Amino acid sequence: KTIHILNGPNLNLLGKRQPEIYGSDTLEDVERICREEAQPKGFEVALFQSNFEGEIVEQIHRARDAACAIVINAGAYTHTSVAILDALNTFEGPVFEVHISNVHKRENFRHHSFISQRAEGVLAGFGIEGYALATRRACSVLS
Ligand code: DQA
Repeated sequence: KTIHILNGPNLNLLGKRQPEIYGSDTLEDVERICREEAQPKGFEVALFQSNFEGEIVEQIHRARDAACAIVINAGAYTHTSVAILDALNTFEGPVFEVHISNVHKRENFRHHSFISQRAEGVLAGFGIEGYALATRRACSVLS
């Protein structure tokens, strides 16, 4: 039982990129706190990141067989990608959307998400803890 934690463009630079907005923790920290949440409940986590829209689509296709839930921070593709929404609609398990920053407090173009209409829940502005909270929720809806 594996929860896939999918990350979109620029999140490979998490910890270095605009730390005043995104903090100083890295994707490795994200993976660790999600694993700490999941393992005691009998779940594994696998974290992926890509700067390429099509690779994220293909990773969602792989999740169809490999994952029981998806936690996704699609970065800027959140606001643009019908392809990622369509891919998520091919996945049968629950999807949780995460944003490190509170996108609603930021520019208007960040206020719309193509992913939210597919997500069971959305967390924004909880820093990287949002990933752990979403993982926690994934475990509880699947248990
Ligand atoms: C983000 C918010 C997006 O608007 C932005 O493009 C990102 C990160 C967040 O985690 O706060 O790359 O998804």
